[in-house]
Amino acid sequence: MPTRSSVGWFPHPGACPDAPARGRTAVGVDVVDVPRFARLVALRGPMMADRVFSPAELETCRGSPQRLAARFAAKEAGAKALGLGIGPLAWRDVEVRTGARGAPVLVLHGAARVAARAQGLDRWSVSLSHDATRAVAFVVATEARRAGR
Ligand SMILES: CC(C)(COP(=O)(O)OP(=O)(O)OC[C@H]1O[C@@H](n2cnc3c(N)ncnc32)[C@H](O)[C@@H]1OP(=O)(O)O)[C@@H](O)C(=O)NCCC(=O)NCCS
Repeated sequence: MPTRSSVGWFPHPGACPDAPARGRTAVGVDVVDVPRFARLVALRGPMMADRVFSPAELETCRGSPQRLAARFAAKEAGAKALGLGIGPLAWRDVEVRTGARGAPVLVLHGAARVAARAQGLDRWSVSLSHDATRAVAFVVATEARRAGR
């Protein structure tokens, strides 16, 4: 088993004797085809946008299909991190807000918030990336309470 003194990396925290105790980590990732997403939004119209996105998300994205698609991916990725499909959740239960220096912040509402609390997943992070054709979101949730913070 590698240790800190023998090599510079650890396959998992348990391999490092002085690694801080951590709770469970849950992850979710999703990729969205931007042109396909844009066609869907155009087809379904503003009612779909209002059902899927919060007013703050719509305001932030200002109609950019790439940015909206990235937030759509974040909703799917958040649902995956919860171990749920979008089915039991409402789209707007997983919201991306914009934090300091443009960094995205994941905020849970409704059923997503209830499910996260039930699982003890109380720290959420999201990263977004998009170009003309693809939008990606990666979500990480951790049990911060068990980490003693
Ligand atoms: C933030 C940065 C890494 C984004 O990378 P990119 O390749 O241009 O674009 P990507 O599609 O991969 O990522 C875009 C997403 O990054 C996220 N992002 C933006 N700022 C961020 C930050 N400070 N921290 C974490 N994520 C950030 C946003 O979610 C953004 O999506 P959004 O615009 O829809 O909200 C890049 O723009 C950067 O390094 N910025 C800092 C330096 C800077 O601002 N330079 C400009 C002045 S010289």
